[in-house]
Amino acid sequence: MKTRIFKDTIEDIRKAGEIIAGGGIVAFPTETVYGLGANALDEDAVKKIYKAKGRPSDNPMIVHISQVGDIYDIADVSESTMSKKAMENLRKCSDAFWPGPLTMVLPKKGIVPLTTTGGLDTVAIRMPSHKTARMLIESSGCPIAAPSANLSGKPSPTTAEHTLDDMDGRIDAIILGSDCQVGIESTVVDMRKDEPVILRPGRITPEDLSNAIGGIVLIHPSLKKKDMSQKDVDLSQNMVARSPGMKYKHYAPEAEMQVFISDANDRAKALRMAESECNRLKTMGKKPTIISFSDGIEAAHDLFRRLRDADKAGYDVILAVGVSDDESGGVGFSVMNRMLKSAGYNVKKV
Ligand code: TXA
Ligand code: MG
Repeated sequence: MKTRIFKDTIEDIRKAGEIIAGGGIVAFPTETVYGLGANALDEDAVKKIYKAKGRPSDNPMIVHISQVGDIYDIADVSESTMSKKAMENLRKCSDAFWPGPLTMVLPKKGIVPLTTTGGLDTVAIRMPSHKTARMLIESSGCPIAAPSANLSGKPSPTTAEHTLDDMDGRIDAIILGSDCQVGIESTVVDMRKDEPVILRPGRITPEDLSNAIGGIVLIHPSLKKKDMSQKDVDLSQNMVARSPGMKYKHYAPEAEMQVFISDANDRAKALRMAESECNRLKTMGKKPTIISFSDGIEAAHDLFRRLRDADKAGYDVILAVGVSDDESGGVGFSVMNRMLKSAGYNVKKV
């Protein structure tokens, strides 16, 4: 398939909107990562996304809207489906964080096909802050289902170049925009109960959410056991039921990857260990590289880009230095969620 290349201009975004309205699929920038979008209400269009990504079809998609009021077109928010408190939380969180990197899981309306939600009776909704993304939604005239625009299993693309690497020739069009500001995917929160449950950590932290609702926010238990092996992740039935996307191999570079964490959150020590491992591997004829970050925000912004750049440069081992969970007001926790998955939980504690 010949992929049309669009610029981040009003004219081009309009053309991309027409493609989506006509049942096609388009990659576009958001503030978190690049997304691969289709009309969320058009089953056949959504199927094209699964195909282009090589994504299992029980992995639900996030539906992107351009105005808060659009929630009610696709989600069943009423006293029969949600408590008063849960509805209040929804309002407080959309006031505080939208447009922005927060995705809220709500009961779905019948108009949203099960193909979009991976068979679930809930729909995950996000209103992005990136202007191009919002203009695209507006000009297409429909809510846009969009997973990250990577081939399934690979790190999410955070630059136009990385999006092209994975999607050129597989989709109708790509809008080439700027690098993504946040760099990791949105925080996903189940909003249906009185106490929201975080299913995927992101730039918006549990503390941010708790401050906004003035109450307790739960973290799904599966997210806390960060040292468990991938096998244990697969076996965690509860989590699989909650957020099906999390059971698959994720964010993995081609290179073998190892994460260095210091027990006392002593990053300098972890870095020294990574350096000594790097030297050892070199003497064995390997081509290792080290990635480390100065804080949680920078780590979020750069992690996926650096994994992809390391692969492109032909490194065969990536030695990553972990950040502490409380780094940058808790963003470190979200970064480590991605970093450990990228490495297949191959962790070296020092
Ligand atoms: O930042 C983002 O969220 C990006 C950009 C493009 O907006 N999108 C993204 O989509 O990361 P994706 O498909 O790569 O990840 C969606 C996550 C998956 O972990 C999926 O399981 C979860 O959201 N999810 C989607 N719908 C859900 C639902 N109804 N219930 C629970 N989890 C859901
Ligand atoms: Mg993804």
